[in-house]
Amino acid sequence: MLSHWSLDPDVTYLNHGTVGVAPKRVLAAQQAIRDEMERQPSRFLLREVVCLAGVPRDEPTRMRRAAAAVAAFVGARERDVVFVDNATTGVNAVLRSFPLDPGDEILLTDHNYGATARVALFVARERGAQVRTVTVPYPRFDAGQLIDELARAIGPRTRVAVLDHITSESALVFPLQEMVDVCRAGGVPVLVDGAHAPGVLPLDIPSLGVDWYTANLHKWAHAPRSCGFLWAAPERQANLHPAVISWGLDKGFLAEFDWVGTRDPSPWLAAPEGLAFLQELGFEDVRTHNHSLVWRAAQQLAERWDTAIEFPEAATGFMATVPLPAALGSTPEQAACLRDALLFEDRIEVQLHAAHRRLWARVSCQVYNDDADIEALARAIERRI
Ligand SMILES: Cc1ncc(COP(=O)(O)O)c(C=O)c1O
Repeated sequence: MLSHWSLDPDVTYLNHGTVGVAPKRVLAAQQAIRDEMERQPSRFLLREVVCLAGVPRDEPTRMRRAAAAVAAFVGARERDVVFVDNATTGVNAVLRSFPLDPGDEILLTDHNYGATARVALFVARERGAQVRTVTVPYPRFDAGQLIDELARAIGPRTRVAVLDHITSESALVFPLQEMVDVCRAGGVPVLVDGAHAPGVLPLDIPSLGVDWYTANLHKWAHAPRSCGFLWAAPERQANLHPAVISWGLDKGFLAEFDWVGTRDPSPWLAAPEGLAFLQELGFEDVRTHNHSLVWRAAQQLAERWDTAIEFPEAATGFMATVPLPAALGSTPEQAACLRDALLFEDRIEVQLHAAHRRLWARVSCQVYNDDADIEALARAIERRI
């Protein structure tokens, strides 16, 4: 499978989840789009990608056609989906558009992605609002306890909750539907950060009953960087603005987001090619391969390193975060040194971090990985104990 990607064959790449890896054929499709654009750039950008010049035409723009393919993949209607650069941009759009009064609360968990937490902090700071953070039961993850903690944290001033579908460092698949149900019962609108979900979990976004869902397609859905999307429930679209205001202001959800200034739209227009690649590989086959490899890896690595994983298989997607032996340290500096040593000495790229007084490895499994990659990581760590 490695031949479908341009990855260096001398590096064991166990870090697909961090910034994604675009397959060769998707990059080729993106280049073809760029070549076409450069033949007649203004026609391509202003008449075909969006309709900002000339007499409006009836057929959908290329942006809308690409959005339709993405919408179909996540069970949504084309008119409820817009492209954004990435999940960070989607979170910015929603939280910065959301009306908050002094004393209002934004609800997060302590496993939210760091950038998302900072957006919430920024918005709260500007409006005199507060961020309330639910502590996820971890490292011994307990989905039921998380749902209870979330319910307890909802108060009279909770105005919006930002929930991960799959967390970043801890790589947990959250019990999203139950968490959403708790928020809805408390009258709290929900923004889902699904950065890692498309291409890992089958999605039917409208059925979740959430207000907004933003995600990346460049991580697991094989789109080129930078390609994310934002879905908004119809009743949430009127006052939703992109982080960058442009010509579409007050012209409706699609007009606001489809043009955010002159930029290269090729990652978005090439997203359908990534989805086609995934369908050709067979989404279910990919899921079976990646999930079973990572679950096996989590158990084997913990056994080899004499540590323990304390999350169930149900909370595992295509990534697993495994504790490293205590002898390897506990600080962010030690994590950085070890990560460099693995890359430059062992030619293994894997995400490492320090938390809960120890180091952790987050292993990503994509179809180009196999048990030999896990064995290489297991041994490289064993050599350093
Ligand atoms: C849960 C989560 N949210 C958001 C992001 C941000 O993604 P991006 O940098 O593409 O905006 C990440 C990135 O890894 C993530 O793991």
